[in-house]
Amino acid sequence: MNINPVIKINQRMYEGNESAFITTGENIYLYDSNGKKYIDFCGGIWNVPFGYSNPTINNRITEQLKRLPFCNLISNTADIQHHYAVRLCKLLGSSALLYTCSGSECIEAAIKTCRLYQTIKGSNRRDISAFNLSYHGTSYGAMSVSGVDNQAFNYYYPMVGGIKWISAPRDIENTELWLKAIEEHFRQNADAMAGIIIEPVFGSGGIIPLPYAALKRLEELCRENDILLVADEVSTGFGRTGVPFVFKSYGIDPDLTCLSKGITNGYLPLGVLAFSSRVTGVFAEKHAVLEHFSSQGGNLLAIAAADAVLDLMENYEEFEVSSKGEYFKNILKELLSPYKNVSVRGCGLMLAISFNKEPQTMRFIDILAKIRKRGLLTYHFYNPGYNAGLSFFPPYTSSRMDLQDAAEKVVSILKHCPDIIC
Ligand SMILES: Cc1ncc(COP(=O)(O)O)c(C=O)c1O
Repeated sequence: MNINPVIKINQRMYEGNESAFITTGENIYLYDSNGKKYIDFCGGIWNVPFGYSNPTINNRITEQLKRLPFCNLISNTADIQHHYAVRLCKLLGSSALLYTCSGSECIEAAIKTCRLYQTIKGSNRRDISAFNLSYHGTSYGAMSVSGVDNQAFNYYYPMVGGIKWISAPRDIENTELWLKAIEEHFRQNADAMAGIIIEPVFGSGGIIPLPYAALKRLEELCRENDILLVADEVSTGFGRTGVPFVFKSYGIDPDLTCLSKGITNGYLPLGVLAFSSRVTGVFAEKHAVLEHFSSQGGNLLAIAAADAVLDLMENYEEFEVSSKGEYFKNILKELLSPYKNVSVRGCGLMLAISFNKEPQTMRFIDILAKIRKRGLLTYHFYNPGYNAGLSFFPPYTSSRMDLQDAAEKVVSILKHCPDIIC
């Protein structure tokens, strides 16, 4: 059997031996070794909002490479590590941040922080709550708080203990049902809860925004009970949903914020766990230290890229993320209007076509391959018994013509799949 030397998630060892490799990228386009051009509406893997070969980011990385490529963050702090921490904290209204290498690692550190916070306050609370629709990563702690796809986790038990689930309502439009689920969860579990981890828009769970009232209620309940509210903005941060950061933009003040993906425009691995002054204040008062470190965390080239992303974010409005998202949604709705059992949803440029009929996983491989053949890269979500569909994370630099072109490509394939849309 021909083993693929590159091991990939969700693929058997002999799968994924592509006949062509991706060789170059320019703005929203990727090119493979056969010269085929693709529009990348996976947006990397949701982490390239400003496109490939962005000169602002490229130049900043090169400058930093010439000046200083690495700094041991245990014994020293590089100027750029300090500068970026101050800049991002100001933007988020946070007090301090921990550098990590990925979104998953932010979640690990967040779980530890919640438990450490309760321990130093003399509390026995240890449980971490999360939604059954959430995805937070694939390291053990992150996997343990991920509700989606957890059938695949059966092979890896035992997971990290002390995790409690909130069930998302089936009727995702019904704010009352969200509130009911949240209230009930706190009623039953608050006494033992150290923290709760929330994606403001469930990404892998099917591009489902949590209603504002639910986020607000979560904040109130966390405050009333001294439970840490952890915002997982790994996929939503840096403007993906039409606002720079969902929690901050909605006036909700999390204790911890997890950021990664778009932080460096996907060019280099970096994550950040930002702490509120409520948490740093308690840690300072109790002389607590957080036992968390990665040798490669806070890489200087990655921070240079992240600093350039913040420069780009200063002109965020010019990218028209909200209005381009509405435009794309409207075209998809229009093109799909003859079909009943399909819907379009999402916010900003984080969007989905959701199927009412649940296709087999194998069907998705076929559909994505056909869309790819037409020159468009996109992704799917598949949560058996709950929802299934296609997701779109167009770079903010996509033009309206690109959005129209992509929508037409997708629908031209879907309309020949009567087992899915009719
Ligand atoms: C909401 C969310 N949290 C955490 C993660 C994990 O991030 P990473 O892949 O960088 O470990 C992801 C990745 O898709 C994510 O979407």
